[in-house]
Amino acid sequence: MSTPGSSTSTGSSSGASSGASRSSHRRARAREAALARAVEDGLLGPRSPLVGLLDVDGVLAAVGALNEAFEGPAPVHHTFAAKACGLVPVLRLLADAGMGCEVASPGELEQALAAGFTYDRLVFDSPAKTVEELEFALARGIAINLDNFQELARVDRLLAGREAAGPIGLRVNPQVGAGAIGAMSTATATSKFGIALRDPGAVDAVIDAFAHRPWLDRLHAHVGSQGCPLPLIAEGVRAAYELAERVNAELGRAQITGLDIGGGLPVNFDDEDDRPTYADYVAELRGAAPGLFDGRYTLVTEFGRSLLAKSGTIGTVVEYTKSAGGRRIAVTHAGAQVATRTAFMPDAWPLRVGVFDAEGRPKRGPAEVVDIAGPCCFAGDLTATARALPAVEPGDVVALYDTGAYYFSSHFSYNSLPRPAVYGYRTDPGGRVRFALVREAQSVRGVVEESGLSQADALVALRAT
Ligand SMILES: Cc1ncc(COP(=O)(O)O)c(C=O)c1O
Repeated sequence: MSTPGSSTSTGSSSGASSGASRSSHRRARAREAALARAVEDGLLGPRSPLVGLLDVDGVLAAVGALNEAFEGPAPVHHTFAAKACGLVPVLRLLADAGMGCEVASPGELEQALAAGFTYDRLVFDSPAKTVEELEFALARGIAINLDNFQELARVDRLLAGREAAGPIGLRVNPQVGAGAIGAMSTATATSKFGIALRDPGAVDAVIDAFAHRPWLDRLHAHVGSQGCPLPLIAEGVRAAYELAERVNAELGRAQITGLDIGGGLPVNFDDEDDRPTYADYVAELRGAAPGLFDGRYTLVTEFGRSLLAKSGTIGTVVEYTKSAGGRRIAVTHAGAQVATRTAFMPDAWPLRVGVFDAEGRPKRGPAEVVDIAGPCCFAGDLTATARALPAVEPGDVVALYDTGAYYFSSHFSYNSLPRPAVYGYRTDPGGRVRFALVREAQSVRGVVEESGLSQADALVALRAT
């Protein structure tokens, strides 16, 4: 389905999809109501021209769909990949909904702890864990996925013969190939992640690693993120499953008890529908590796984008419109600082765009072709190019849809632009919108402070010595 005043990433302004579910209709209605209310309340307007909005019910519906899809005899521990939206209130909402959390940096770990995740609900990834980080996780029984043989040897030294307090896995790269976006594909022949399974001797080395370490009890594979088709992801998961079967068979004991299958369910950025669904993914996995679900292994998942993306919206005010070389351009306040991937790789990360008037009502009327530009000082700072949209005028509101993951939460500080405020919203059955502040807008003073204000004299003083 598409909404009035919107355009899909392919430039069409219609394109109703017959498969639109009730939940995607609800989401579109709630988003429209939230944008109008945000304008009315002044959360979005001339004095606050950029805001991130998150549909709380949409997030919870995604969690519900995930749980439902994986229901069955196998115990499942669903974790949210904190990198997708490292905002403490969002993490707390997910903790409250029963999720665990996958973290891949000390900052994400602290955010997850601040959100209330207990140690046993965390999974610690990252290809570059320091000794200190490993010690922290080992001492608290946080599940860890080790990335390489050097890290294994480091953990040998840190444990010094002691039992591990929590699950410890080994990340493998099944080398099944790339999806549509190279930078999102973690199972290529030369990917930096995990142990490259198809390299000569790798499988034997992994079996040997398990044979000598009774505390090593999980395998981890994350094939990739956006752009990876389900059969490719399933092929990678099957390789990890088959390796677990082989390790356990060769060791004559069920040492591997957990399979962490990562995240990576792609998101549909073309229209409102959730496509593929978690149920589609589980069906694909059941076809590729039926034994995965029979209850012998605890399954761990690490979804990020698919849980949050479609519940997020960036709202921004159109400051000016102009034309250049026959092309209409609308200059907004949302650019590479909040839509980094779209600005730098527009073909890989197209976004749907909606246009609303200064009261936040969807604009209608004949379409004109326009570029939607951001405020950053480089030519590629565009969130949409040559898009057919109702005429855009100064003071209008532009909405960038499906931006709940890796967009307003993953700020890029180019041009020292401040991080925008983020609000969560719910609508009651009467359509009334309620907001909750998730993150305050960063002040310009805050930008200056974090750019070394307290060290302002440092270099002049150094030169003077
Ligand atoms: C190890 C790992 N797990 C999970 C994820 C989350 O992936 P997605 O947001 O595509 O579900 C990522 C993304 O980079 C990752 O690297």
